[in-house]
Order: sequence, then structure tokens, then C-alpha cells
Amino acid sequence: MSFSAPFAHPGLHHDPQWYRRAVFYEVMVRGFADSDGDGVGDLPGLIAKLDYLEWLGVDALWLPPFYSSPLLDGGYDVADYRSVLPDFGTLDDFQELVTQAHQRNMRVVIDLVLNHTSSEHEWFQMSRSDPNGPYGDYYVWSDTDEIRQNIRIIFTDTEQSNWAFDAERRQFYFHRFFSHQPDLNYGNPAVHQEMFDVARYWLDMGVDGFRLDAVPYLYESDEGTGESEPETHDFIRAMRAMMDKEYPGRALIAEANQWPREVAAYFGTEDDPECHMAFDFPVMPRIFYALRSQDTSSLKEVLSEQTEILPGTSWAVFLRNHDELTLEMVTDEERQALYGWYAYDPRMRVNVGIRRRLAPLLDNSRHELELVHAILLSLAGSPFLYYGDEIGMGDNIWLNDRDSSRTPMQWTPDRNAGFSASDPGKLFLPVVQSLVYHYSAVNVETELAQPRSLLHFVRKIVHLRKAHPVFAVGDLMVCPTDNGSVLAYVRQTTQENCQPGERPETILCVFSFAHYPTTANVTLPDQVVADRVTDLFGGATFPSAVDGKITLTLGTQGFYWLSLS
Ligand code: BGC
Ligand code: MG
Repeated sequence: MSFSAPFAHPGLHHDPQWYRRAVFYEVMVRGFADSDGDGVGDLPGLIAKLDYLEWLGVDALWLPPFYSSPLLDGGYDVADYRSVLPDFGTLDDFQELVTQAHQRNMRVVIDLVLNHTSSEHEWFQMSRSDPNGPYGDYYVWSDTDEIRQNIRIIFTDTEQSNWAFDAERRQFYFHRFFSHQPDLNYGNPAVHQEMFDVARYWLDMGVDGFRLDAVPYLYESDEGTGESEPETHDFIRAMRAMMDKEYPGRALIAEANQWPREVAAYFGTEDDPECHMAFDFPVMPRIFYALRSQDTSSLKEVLSEQTEILPGTSWAVFLRNHDELTLEMVTDEERQALYGWYAYDPRMRVNVGIRRRLAPLLDNSRHELELVHAILLSLAGSPFLYYGDEIGMGDNIWLNDRDSSRTPMQWTPDRNAGFSASDPGKLFLPVVQSLVYHYSAVNVETELAQPRSLLHFVRKIVHLRKAHPVFAVGDLMVCPTDNGSVLAYVRQTTQENCQPGERPETILCVFSFAHYPTTANVTLPDQVVADRVTDLFGGATFPSAVDGKITLTLGTQGFYWLSLS
């Protein structure tokens, strides 16, 4: 498999708002490619696959933690913020990854785990053994576990309390996630300095931004819920000010699994900005809800609520990631329905969510996979793909926790799916060998050889999106339709949001969630002219709008991206 372009690599282009136009790809170093045959993916393995990612159309990588860690939470249990886990490579390898990605004009975003460390971190070890020492106040200690009972538990399957007793210090420490992940004490200014310096350390190595992990939980108070407390926003504002001053052009991405208004608060205000991007947790589960209910009303509602965000900010839209498909931000009724449709086997559930990959969730339906990608790549914001979903990889619900969807990337039909030359028994997780998703059929090489494969479809639609900057920076206006199963919105740019050389554009996107063919009347916004209507995929001309309305016929779960002029 050779993907290398015949031309010289372009190098990093100057674009202070690069994150608004980027197609992101989340890649777990451990699961992508193993260069040294030890059964564990590593940074040199990832570097060797950059040509593939460039071919696919990826503009930015997001790497979950690759730091030294006991790996009890996929690396989100950091034991040393300034290191690379030896199984994954060295700091030099990381520097090389950044250099080689930048040569391809590809950005690198990494996780900044602010809220907690591993209990193996030396700060915690010193905090427990020396309460009066310099690290004594780095964590949240208490003589009683009876306070802050109104703070909800996130890992409901494994934790009974947010407090754990430390036998050495003979006090309780607060932990929002696993009990081996003590929360840092943001009430202590020394912790702020410490985390600023960690950020600077990686920014100095050239990273283009951070995903701020679990960001709502930094501060907790006796009265509050421990989510999005005002001091948490103050801290992010300070972090943003430091970045703007010392490292302009780098981006902050909030991971805030919250209701729409609370998520939007992580953008801050024009005078006091916080994050450049925030993951769109409210929209994601509603796409899955609409697929089975054939009812788009709650999806339309959140999309309509979200249209106004600060200039220069962007949603980070996604379908799946390395975590469970979280169902926290839906109503109880919707959650029960989603469990029934998508997690009919109890093994498919974890905490408040579903631990499956995209293709199995959608029963490997090509209609549905194309439909959800057409939505993901046309929504307002920048799309985040999850490694392996571009080939329709399966999952393994017999594995523990969220490892179900973190199995090795499937490159070829050969041993270990071409992921590693190791003894198959040595792999960090087994490759998927289920009937439907066996790596002998589902892999990059096989799909490359098949022009109509999902991989070729995903690549095509990624490139089509990128050919029309309106998808990245245009406004989104939800359009009324007379069919509850049909979602329609217009994406539009004006001269103001175009870069030099770009023309203003208007694109109508229409999606049918109906399980059979259907028709819909779409009412266009007043200012939109549709004398000439052309399909972006094949170029066919459609009937023009009459009185601001377009009538369309849609096949089963069909969709259009129509250029209007
Ligand atoms: C990450 C999870 C992790 C948790 C605790 C999250 O938000 O995405 O994978 O388990 O933070 O660090
Ligand atoms: Mg290795």
C-alpha cells in the first residue's frame, strides 16, 4: 500500500483559524500501528501511516494520552505529564511525529488531562505521605466523605462514591472518575502554575492545541454540583489568555458533556474568550435517535438552538470516539429508547452509555453509514472521525469497559490484520474476528481494492466537503419541511466569512431518516435564491425553487447536498 504523494510536502500553512476548516481524526497510538512487533501500537507506527491519513483527507490528528501511565483508564490516568509511555516510543518519536505531520500541513492536537492524575503520579505519592509538604495541598483531601453528596457519580458501573479513603494519609480524597484518579485541587494556585507549565512544555514541542479532558469538573464546592462552576471558567480564561499571548494560533477544545447552554459557555465571550472549540454532545445522540424513531424533531430543536456562537469559534462534531456513546444529554424517555434500539444486549452498555462502534450500531447498513457521514461532514463545525470507522470496523463487547471499541486498526487480511508482526497472543487487545466484521474482509487493503467500498466513500465525501469551505465556516439555517422524517438545513457564506480567493456559496442539505422512500417540501429561508439547483455529488440539475419551496423525492435514508445559485 503506497499513499505517498508524487509532490513535495507542502509544510504548515499559516491560518490562525485552521481548526474551523480542519477534518480531525482521533487516533489512539496504542491501537493504530505497531512498528516494533511488541504487540502494542507506537508513535513510529503512526508516523508510517501519515501518508494514509493525508490520502484520506485528514487535516488534524487528535491523540488521546500517550504519557507514562498504568493504563487503567486508557492513559487518562497520567503518571507523568512530561513523558511518553515507553511502549509507545520516546519524546524524540513524538517530536518526529509533529515534524512529519506539519510537513503534510497536518496539525497535531493532544489531550491535556487537567482534572486528575493517576494515583501513581509522584505528586499524589508525596501528597499522601507528606500532608504538610509542598504537594500536601495538590489534591482534594477531607476528614469526612459525607460532604459534597450532590455531586453525581460519572462511572456508575464501578464507583459508589466520589470519595476514597487513603490508608496512608488517613483522609479521604475526592475523585470524579475512577478511584485511582484523584482530582487535582484547583483551589491551590500552585496547581495552576504546574498545569500551565505542562501545557507550555508540549506547545514548545509544536503541538497545535489541546483537547481539555473532562473540563467541567476542575472545581467543586460544597453547595455546587461540581460541574461548570464559575471558577472553572475563570481558570480556562486564564489558560486561553496565556496561549493567545505566548502561543498564538494554537487551539483549545472543550470536552464538556453538558446541556447545550452549558457547553456553549465554554466558548466564553468576545472580551473573555475560553475555548476555540467544544465537542457537540447534545447533537450526537439525537442523530442516533432520529435514525430509529424516523422523527427529526429533537435533532432540529438542538440544531436551531445552536446557531449563534462567537465569531472564530466552532463546534467539534462527532459520531463516535474512544468512549461510550454517552446518553447523558437526552431525556429519560429518549435514553430508554436508545438503549432498546442500540444496546439490546446488556453487555453493550457501560455507565450511562453504549460501548459499540459506529458500523455495528448501524447494523452495518451502508445506507445509514452514508447518511450519518453526510450529516457529520455538513453540520456547522469541524468533523471528528474515529480511527477505523472509515472502514466500518466492528467492536468486541466481550472485552472490558470501553476496550470494546479500541481494538487494533485493521490494515490487511494478514496476521494481526497487518497491525503488528507479533505473536497474535501478545497483542494488547485481540483483533476483531466476528462473523460480520472479521479483519479478513474489513481492512484498508481490501477496501482500497474495491472502488465502491465504505473507505472510498468516506474519502470522497471528506474531499467534497473540503472543496466547499461553506461547510466549514458558513452559517447553518434549519429549514422547515412538511415531513417529520426529513431534516433540511442551508449552509451559507457571505463575502465576510470567505478567505481571499473564495466565493460565497449556498448549499441545501436534506436528509431522510425514513425507512422507505418519501417526499418532502422544504421551505427555504427568505434571503436564499434557488434558481439553479445542482447536486454536488454528480452534478445533476434539479427543479428550481417555486415560491421559496423545493419539493424533493428521497430514497430510503437518502440525502442531498444541493448547490443553490
Ligand atoms: C475521557 C475518558 C476518561 C475520562 C477520565 C474522559 O472524558 O474521554 O476516556 O475515562 O475522561 O479521564
Ligand atoms: Mg510497538
